[in-house]
Order: sequence, then structure tokens, then C-alpha cells
Amino acid sequence: MNPRKIVLTGMMCSGKTTVGKLLSRILGWEFVDTDSLIEKKVGKTIPQIFELHGEKSFREYEREVISMLENLENVIIATGGGAILDDRNFDSLKKNSLMIYLHATGDELVKRCMKYPHSRPLIRENTEGNIWKILKEREPVYSKVPVKIETTERKPEIVAQRILYHLNFETQERVDGIEDILIEPGAIKRMDEFIQGRNIYVIQRKVWRVFRDFFESKNIVLIPDGDVAKGLGVARKIYKSLMDAGIDRDGTLVSIGGGAASDLSGFIASTYKRGIKFINVPTTLLSQVDAGIGGKNALNFGRIKNVIGTFYHPFKIIIDPLALISLNSRAYRQGFAEIIKSAIIGDPDLIDFMEEHSDELLNRNIPLLSKVIYRTVRVKMDIVREDFEEKSGVRKLLNLGHTFGHAYEVILEIYHGEAVAIGLVKSLEIGVKFGMTDENFSKRIVRLLDKFGLLKKLLEAENLDAERLMEKITHDKKMKSGKVDFVIPVSPGEVVIKSLSLDELVFKR
Ligand SMILES: NC(=O)c1ccc[n+]([C@@H]2O[C@H](COP(=O)([O-])OP(=O)(O)OC[C@H]3O[C@@H](n4cnc5c(N)ncnc54)[C@H](O)[C@@H]3O)[C@@H](O)[C@H]2O)c1
Repeated sequence: MNPRKIVLTGMMCSGKTTVGKLLSRILGWEFVDTDSLIEKKVGKTIPQIFELHGEKSFREYEREVISMLENLENVIIATGGGAILDDRNFDSLKKNSLMIYLHATGDELVKRCMKYPHSRPLIRENTEGNIWKILKEREPVYSKVPVKIETTERKPEIVAQRILYHLNFETQERVDGIEDILIEPGAIKRMDEFIQGRNIYVIQRKVWRVFRDFFESKNIVLIPDGDVAKGLGVARKIYKSLMDAGIDRDGTLVSIGGGAASDLSGFIASTYKRGIKFINVPTTLLSQVDAGIGGKNALNFGRIKNVIGTFYHPFKIIIDPLALISLNSRAYRQGFAEIIKSAIIGDPDLIDFMEEHSDELLNRNIPLLSKVIYRTVRVKMDIVREDFEEKSGVRKLLNLGHTFGHAYEVILEIYHGEAVAIGLVKSLEIGVKFGMTDENFSKRIVRLLDKFGLLKKLLEAENLDAERLMEKITHDKKMKSGKVDFVIPVSPGEVVIKSLSLDELVFKR
């Protein structure tokens, strides 16, 4: 990764500590706050140092502390607001680092600082007036910092994400063959390199709000967030935009968003003029490891999910793990259900890896996340390559956890990944009941799913009315002579399909 040091500068209350700690968790780098180092060195708080020793001495301590940080690596440094007014500090901090000015408007700074004015000696009195005064004095120096990031009205996660887009992660993984898949942190920023000719971008609204400056000059159709977009009404709007833009058979449709966006866009790309180029940029974890790869697309019709659709390979799939930083926690965590599912099916070592690194993965550690995404994509694509259109039955293995999962998703109105996680627990239980699944393996997977916060609705699912559950499963699955092909996890890396009747599936423990 290059560079290996991030320096955050800016006014008091600009978010240096909050954003710095967040970056430290994401990158697994140490976080250092120069004010805290000074307090440790002197054995007094910053207000005490100002009161007892004066600002001049404080600046000397600051200078000493900063000079000691110059050669550190893998570190995030948050400086005091006035540190870079001293040229020596500025030069020393700038060396081998990504130096950032966290900007906020004066009004925003006043709003934030008003909450804790007493811990900041320079604004303890006349807080508002002093903030404006200091901002005016320091702005010319801050403007010399190489990268300015806006923090006004932005959540710390979005600010951290913006900063990370300035790093070069130097990692790139490819899975090709049936679909050309690139996994690269930061790839969204260089979309232009992947697209030639006329094109149109289909983007979910929330995603647009996060990345709008990357796509400002593009030909864009915004779609609603979530499954409401997967209907004929929104599809119609996109067909019309394609026609209005004169997109021909050699044109490209680019989808940017979660599984709902790629399901909708893939369908349109496969049907408009009997098929145009489709580039998919999945931006949720669930879509990066599952929904956005493998070439299935679908629209909902009325209240029936995924009933209209085709099999259609994207021309390219661009997976940018950095996009996941802005995803809310629940939407992020649900992706791990599909990752654990794939690990059980085809990558047993990935289970060990997830157990070992669950905390870092929950913190969205980008290098580890990139590895996990790559390995999960490989498992799915190995299966899809063998049985793209679900003809030989191999692709059915990917349904692990989904027979019950689909029913839970609809009845409990929970996220797809959360439902699949509970479905996985159910398939393990059934495996144990038939003496096919080792009980310790089952417990291990349940623990792992729980670690990722995916079993919060388990009890509710267990207490569902059996008839209601059966009705949903019958409705969803193709039954053959009253039986369903059910995927049972036997041991890490081994799953089998067993034909089971509804009575065998739905039983009380
Ligand atoms: N085709 C398949 O093989 C397949 C498989 C599984 C699921 N699916 C489908 O996928 C859909 C669910 O996908 P999903 O979970 O990705 O949900 P989603 O597409 O509905 O996205 C969830 C929310 O996250 C927002 N979002 C997306 N990326 C973001 C980012 N980087 N930062 C901030 N916000 C972001 C979206 O705007 C949306 O509000 C369902 O429609 C399901 O049927 C398809």
C-alpha cells in the first residue's frame, strides 16, 4: 500500500480523531494523536499545559513529538489544529505521507465545538468568535495541504472512505473465464478506463449520493433504492433512456449498486436490442460475493419476487471493496451469510480464516476483505462455470441455506443474507437429524454466523407456524413427487443434495 502513513490536519472539531480511529480500524494501522502524546509526555492535560506553561511551551512540546513521528509507517496521525503553522512540523509531517486537510465550514465547526468548548483552551471563551478568527488565520496554511476533504454534513464513514480513495492499495485480483471479474480497492474511481463507446449508467440513489462526483459527467439514470426498483415501471424508464440516448447494439449499460440494481440492469441489458454490453459494478457485500456475479437477473412482478428474468453474463464485473465503507452495518453484515455459505461449499480454509479474522472483517479491513471477496467469488464461479443455466444440477449447491432462507425473508421481512444465515442453521439441524452432519461442525458454523450478528431473528424463525413455512417453501421450490432437492452441509467443503419431503423438512426440535 502506498503511502504507508496518513496525516490528518484541520481545525479543532473537524473530526480528525473520529476519522483517524475509523481509518485505523479499517487499515489495521496504529492511530496516534499528537495532543495525546504531548499530554502523556508532560503528564498534564492540554488545558493545564496552556494554563501552567503557556502556548509557547505547548508548541515546543508539539514540535518535539512531531519530529519523533517522521519515520513511522502504518500509522494514522491526527495533529493539533495549529501544528502545521510551524513550517518544520509541516515538512516533517508531509514526508512519505498522504496528508489531508479535513475541511468544515465555519458554521459547522461552531455547531460541533459548542458541545465541548472547555477542553479547548483557544476557544474556551468567546467560542464562536474565536473559531471564526482562528479559521481565517489558519486557512492559508491549510490550503497548502495536498488533499482537502470536505466533512461538512458528511458522516465519518464517508469521510474515511473519501480518504481511502487517495491510497493506492496495489492489490488486484482477477477471476476470469466465464465472467471477467476484477477485484480492486479503488476501481470505481477509474471506470472510464473500462468503458468504450456510448453508454448509460444505472445508479441507485443512495449510491449516487455517496459517489456523485465520480460520475458527474456521465449519462445517468437514477433508480430507487431497494427492491421497488425491480419492476416493469422502472425498467420502462431505463429502456426509454437507452433509446433517447441512441444506445445501439454496441453500446454499454453500466450498473452501479447492490443486487437490486444488477438484477434490474442485467435484465434490461439482455433484452434491449436483444442484448447490449453489460458492465456490473456491485457495491454491497452481498452483491459483490453473490447477487452481482453468476449471470442471473430478475424483475419482480406484483408481489412475486424474481419471476421475470434471464441468464446473461456481464461483459465485465468490477468489484471495489472500498465502496463497502459507506454501507450501513446491517446491510454490510448480511453479506457474510453468503460468504460463509460459499466457504462451506467449496473453500474449507476460508472458514478458519473467517474465524481468525472476524473482528478485522467486521471493521471492514480492506486488504482482508478483498481476499475474502476473491475467494468467495472463486467458489461461486467454479460452480457457475460447470452449470451456468442450472441444467446439470451442480448450481443447485449454491442454494444451500436458501430453501428456508427465501421463506424466512418473506415471512419475517428480513434481509436476504439474514434469512440465508437462519436457513443455514436449519440445514445444519436437518443434516444432524439425518446423521449426515457432524454436530461440532454445525455448532462451529452457528457460532460464526452469530459472530457476524446474523442470527438475531433465529428464535422468531424457530417459532414460526409450520404450515405457513411449508406453504412458502412449496410456493418457492419446484417439488417433484412432493419432495424438494435440499442441500445439506456435511463437513467443511462437502455438501450433498438430498430429496426430502416437506414433513422431513419442517419439524420441531
Ligand atoms: N441475481 C442473483 O443471483 C441474486 C442473488 C441474491 C440476491 N439477489 C437480489 O439482490 C437484491 C438484494 O441485494 P442487496 O442486498 O445488494 O440490496 P440492494 O441492492 O437493495 O441495496 C441495499 C441498499 O444499499 C444501498 N447501497 C448500495 N451500495 C452502497 C454503498 N456502497 N454505500 C452506501 N449504500 C449503498 C442501496 O442504495 C440500497 O439502499 C434482492 O433484490 C435479491 O433478490 C439476486
